Amino acid sequence: MQFPYPVRHRVPLFLAPMAGVSEPPFRRLCRSFGADVVVSEFLSSEGLRRGVKSVHDGAYFTPQERPIGIQLYGADPAAMAEAAELVSYHYAPDFIDINFGCPVKKVVRRNGGSGCLKDLALVQQIIRAVKQAADRPVTVKIRSGWDESTRQPVEIALRCRDAGALAVTLHPRTRAQLYTGRAAWDEIAAVKAAVDIPVVGNGDIKTGEDAYRMWQQTGCDGVMIARGSFGNPWIFQQARDRLDGRAPRPMPGVAERFAVALQHARLQLEIQGDERRTAVEFRKHLGWYTRGLPQAAALRRRLHQIESMSEIERVFRDYLEPLQAVG
Ligand SMILES: Cc1cc2nc3c(=O)[nH]c(=O)nc-3n(C[C@H](O)[C@H](O)[C@H](O)COP(=O)(O)O)c2cc1C
Repeated sequence: MQFPYPVRHRVPLFLAPMAGVSEPPFRRLCRSFGADVVVSEFLSSEGLRRGVKSVHDGAYFTPQERPIGIQLYGADPAAMAEAAELVSYHYAPDFIDINFGCPVKKVVRRNGGSGCLKDLALVQQIIRAVKQAADRPVTVKIRSGWDESTRQPVEIALRCRDAGALAVTLHPRTRAQLYTGRAAWDEIAAVKAAVDIPVVGNGDIKTGEDAYRMWQQTGCDGVMIARGSFGNPWIFQQARDRLDGRAPRPMPGVAERFAVALQHARLQLEIQGDERRTAVEFRKHLGWYTRGLPQAAALRRRLHQIESMSEIERVFRDYLEPLQAVG
């Protein structure tokens, strides 16, 4: 099944849209480690049409991130159409993705995100309105339903396809499940069997091997990774290795992990230009990059207090020195 934008591989790997994580620096990093397609964090259609600067900032990307999708959310078809037109004109992403999966209360209270899944006629209206306004491909990201009683991933995907969506990503959990339980990969296979547009599978990919297993088990056209990429852009390389029939490259050593974490932090600083703010916001990434290392707790305690790039460097140096002396 053909994706509506250029992709390098038969089974492309996607970095998932993630608020506060899939920002330009991390997207660039993941592209360099083998993500084929990236998607922005979800942007409020209301915020875009009202010209809210922080929301517009979220639509910024650099050419090396392409192919990239900008993701929009909202329950008002007119506002979604206006936002899609604005984004197409000002930012020109390769595609526009509509979020029908977000479970966050603030969003679903106004029927945005997964709130739309309670009303599939509204889902279709939104897709049609966005399609008409955006002079580029429109794709959707869905959950399996609002709750168990309305769990119907195949019906949702078919309705999206009928309204003109050119690809569908399924995170096979209901809104009620949030992130609990296991993603029902069999539902990805069912959607794949039912629709004639590309289906991207998402949910619970923690290793490159998982990506391969999802593809094998579901026949999905692409694999999307969210939490498994936290502090681990190498997961894309490892997934590509497995999809190409090779043994996955081993995880890098500590020094390499630190070097990439620093590269990521510097990219973020380059864009934000405010060292203290970048350092403080970056603490969560440092927690992820150092997960599982020996004496990680003490290391992370120090990293959770850093306020500058040089402090990150110092903490890393202090950690590495005794190891290098032994090695
Ligand atoms: C911190 C965080 C932020 C997220 N933000 C978004 C978002 O903006 N748009 C979206 O469609 N999904 C969002 N998601 C959901 C993910 O894209 C993905 O569907 C979900 O995490 C399941 O994939 P995983 O098991 O690989 O994490 C977010 C998830 C996390 C953990």
